[in-house]
Amino acid sequence: MKLPLLGLAFALVSQAALAADAAPALQDKQAFIDHLLGQMNQAEKIGQLRLISIGPEMTAQTIREEIAAGRIGGTFNSRTAAENRPMQDAAMRSRLKIPMFFAYDTVHGERTIFPISLGLASSWDLAAIAQVGRTSAIEASADALDMTFAPMVDIARDPRWGRTSEGFGEDTYLTSRISETMVRAFQGKSPAERDSILAIVKHFALYGAVEGGRDYNTVDMSLPKMYNDYLPPYRAGIDAGAGGVMVALNSINGVPATANTWLMNDLLRKDWGFKGVTISDHGAIQELIRHGVARDGREAAKLAIKAGIDMSMNDSLYGEELPGLLKSGEVSQAELDQAVREVLGAKYEMGLFKDPYVRIGKPEDDVPDTYAESRLHRDAARDVAKRSLVLLENREQTLPLSKSAAIAVVGPLADAPIDMMGSWAADGRPQHSVTVREGLRRALDGRGKLVYAKGANVTGDKAILDYLNFLNFDAPEIVDDPRPPAVLIDEAVKAAQQADVVVAVVGESRGMSHESSSRTTLEIPASQRELIKALKATGKPLVLVLMNGRPLSIGWEREQADAILETWFSGTEGGNAIADVLFGDYNPSGKLPITFPRSVGQIPLYYNHLSIGRPFTPGQPGNYTSQYFEEPNGPLYPFGYGLSYSSFALSDLSLSSKHLQRGETLQAKVTVRNTGKRDGETVVQLYLQDVTGSMSRPVKELKRFEKLMLKAGESRTLAFELGEDDLKFYNAQLQHVAEAGTFNVQVGLDSQDVQQQSFDLR
Ligand code: NOJ
Repeated sequence: MKLPLLGLAFALVSQAALAADAAPALQDKQAFIDHLLGQMNQAEKIGQLRLISIGPEMTAQTIREEIAAGRIGGTFNSRTAAENRPMQDAAMRSRLKIPMFFAYDTVHGERTIFPISLGLASSWDLAAIAQVGRTSAIEASADALDMTFAPMVDIARDPRWGRTSEGFGEDTYLTSRISETMVRAFQGKSPAERDSILAIVKHFALYGAVEGGRDYNTVDMSLPKMYNDYLPPYRAGIDAGAGGVMVALNSINGVPATANTWLMNDLLRKDWGFKGVTISDHGAIQELIRHGVARDGREAAKLAIKAGIDMSMNDSLYGEELPGLLKSGEVSQAELDQAVREVLGAKYEMGLFKDPYVRIGKPEDDVPDTYAESRLHRDAARDVAKRSLVLLENREQTLPLSKSAAIAVVGPLADAPIDMMGSWAADGRPQHSVTVREGLRRALDGRGKLVYAKGANVTGDKAILDYLNFLNFDAPEIVDDPRPPAVLIDEAVKAAQQADVVVAVVGESRGMSHESSSRTTLEIPASQRELIKALKATGKPLVLVLMNGRPLSIGWEREQADAILETWFSGTEGGNAIADVLFGDYNPSGKLPITFPRSVGQIPLYYNHLSIGRPFTPGQPGNYTSQYFEEPNGPLYPFGYGLSYSSFALSDLSLSSKHLQRGETLQAKVTVRNTGKRDGETVVQLYLQDVTGSMSRPVKELKRFEKLMLKAGESRTLAFELGEDDLKFYNAQLQHVAEAGTFNVQVGLDSQDVQQQSFDLR
């Protein structure tokens, strides 16, 4: 990480740092931290490793006392200056006045909620994603937060996993580019700036590959797959300067990440040269006992600190066990000091030694109303949200809708403010959400006609309902309509009969795509499918607006609907953004960052699988090829897919050379033309295939993409530069090599429908 410019630091050094006369200048990070470390007693050192949750576990009074006694290093879950100031005051009363930091899960917005990460990835728009990170940092830092537990860059190829919603999809390259974009945006010019927050990349590592998609489950993976597919997004975030890493809850090939010396020391610190702080996940050190690798708390603490886990989230064990472990010599002074050094280093990077109140500010500047409308960034949220929507179907130009039409807006998610926000919605408030119903109403502005009916509950299954409501949070997560299903459907059918077109907002409630919300099916719940069936029977054009946090198997729905718009959980301004697309004020441009399977039985299904000996050839079913015989093979919607109200065509793919010399580059050129009648954006995607290697290689891998706007009829030629580095992969010996041979360059507007040219690497 680069050192922040600390300029006029001297005046404040004395305040935070120490009674000692010979305190070194604040600009010299190493000397400053070494000196501070030299002043600390053992209890104060251990205190720095403890990250405490603000919540029912400890009263505010106890927390302040603990801080003043030097027994807490940082907290998370508080989110206003008024809450954090008394804690920082307590730290300033402690013997060495080491400042606290305040962290939170600012994942896709802090007060203004942007689309969930899967939606952000669907935009394929790095500038828009950077705006999300920056706006989040501005809002979070304005609320006295110094650190975010984001970005979450776990590759997810099993959509049964509820946390698929929190990541950027299945692809290594796309996720890596987003990872670095988010880190840079959160941290701004420097994480020490007043309006920056320190990024903690998570969950290191491979959390998205939990077996069976069951949350917290084990991960068993070959090293080449790990190095080629799963690790690069963490590395990209780290190389972009992320100040920290959060450690995954899962085990990797039998060893929990939290006790994994190979992962945390050999790979992260030695191979990658990571210099920041490592933070356990919530209670993960304690969980080493249930993982079956530690007999008791003492052993768990020992394993974790020796593996290189600097901070213990929601700690009890570091506080309780490290004194004894140090006394017996099982944990060395050097091991303790190393962890403390990283925590102090992170505080240094956040600018807290220079000014512990840099983000807290002065009491007189505290905002009178934390939830004031004026604190939101609605324009940015609407702009990003509309870019994240993916048009999956549009038969006979059902969309865009006319603003003079009579529209029936129905479905359990049509007017669901909590669900608009998606999971991990930081301090977003449902009352700020624009629902789909409200977005349509505003867009019509008195024109046309809008009738609403709920039509169905999210689920008719009482056990599921109880589960989803148990998960929450602040208010009942799901408001269940007690009327019988037939009555609800009847009401929706009546609404449909009065309308020219039906917009049915269906899918998952946000809690269904959440931590610990794994599913065995990817179907829309039966209560909602009954509604769709009844709506279809009215004969009215049917537009499905999907809300969900994972790919769903919607083969049946595809047959019923005239148009389908995938909206994920689109955030505070989601309803307005969806209306922008439904009425054609914005021409949809999103592309899927994850494959949609036909059924749950196909999982894992991802576009960049390895070549195999007996591949299934579409259109040629037969025995002894790799296939399922009960349903069509391949995805329902491939990675990279998404429609527009316009149409685009690629032509003239050419390479500047048929040979690539090592150390040189070649250019792939392609012409893209807007062949439709509307201006619009599309995403040109370039994939590479290493045809023959020392190991089987993926059938294709995304290596470049460009989102561009073209006026109706306009065409443009794009040039993508490719070099040896783009051809490299980790071989069986984990060497990062580009092997001589033939490479196919495939360019398309999705991952399936591509044009191809080839070159050789010599
Ligand atoms: C547990 C989650 O796994 C992690 O992603 C999150 O950052 C922490 N809780 C803190 O909220």
